[in-house]
Amino acid sequence: KRLILIGPPGSGKGTQSPMIKDDYCLCHLATGDMLRAAVAAKTPLGIKAKEAMDKGELVSDDLVVGIIDEAMKKPSCQKGFILDGFPRTVVQAQKLDEMLEKQGTKIDKVLNFAIDDSILEERITGRWIHPSSGRTYHTKFAPPKVPGLDDANEALTQLAKVEALGLECPGSRLIMCRSLSFIVTGEPLIQRKDDTPAVLKSRLEAFHRQTEPVIDYYGSKGILANLPAEKPPKEVTSEVQKVLSS
Ligand code: AP5
Ligand code: ZN
Ligand code: ZN
Repeated sequence: KRLILIGPPGSGKGTQSPMIKDDYCLCHLATGDMLRAAVAAKTPLGIKAKEAMDKGELVSDDLVVGIIDEAMKKPSCQKGFILDGFPRTVVQAQKLDEMLEKQGTKIDKVLNFAIDDSILEERITGRWIHPSSGRTYHTKFAPPKVPGLDDANEALTQLAKVEALGLECPGSRLIMCRSLSFIVTGEPLIQRKDDTPAVLKSRLEAFHRQTEPVIDYYGSKGILANLPAEKPPKEVTSEVQKVLSS
């Protein structure tokens, strides 16, 4: 299958991707993840992309089309792929169609994570990411499970270990301390630099102005499926499965 996930920041694209990927043996191509890796590695691409990303604006079409073109050639993508966060402008969508036409393939389905803006700030500011795996957690909606750490007493023991390492525990919430205990096992969680209320505001503006027209673009092609993305993660997963098996 060749799928596109489209939706505003925090709508759940990255959360649902691993499930879809495993169910259908697809590769997961997230332009945001690839750009953040380039920024961290200070590659020429990363240096060009950083300023726009920090402000919550879109990176130029040429840059992202280039990385997607390159990434889709990977052997693991030959059976199909999930595009997460691409295309985000009508120009990107047209370029993608041209690339696929050359390969004699096309997009099967576009999953639109439909959700009201008002829910997104809480989702974005509570998000914590495990960088090496890309797994995403939420302090309230998807707290990390630490193996063998099921009760509060044990959490406090772990917290003591964290503090013994001289690491700070942000906030006073127990759940954050629990996620920090990943540090003890060598798996720190981080927050994204653009996950602040101010930057979220411009990311949302970019979504409404530049990306919503892409939803209409695929709607007119008859391959759009709307998902109720405000539902709990498991319910969204079953909605996705329903759409993909029909
Ligand atoms: P990108 O990384 O794509 O960010 P985004 O589109 O803003 O999307 P997010 O990753 O924030 O949201 P998500 O839908 O994946 O949410 P998640 O599942 O993690 O792009 C970043 C930047 O890169 C852009 O601003 C731009 O500068 C640049 N860029 C990238 N692609 C580009 C392109 N094509 N063109 C130009 N520029 C580009 O969920 C969020 C939180 O909510 C998590 O904590 C999660 O646990 C929780 N959660 C998820 N689902 C649920 C649920 N159902 N109920 C409750 N909580 C939930
Ligand atoms: Zn994401
Ligand atoms: Zn809008």
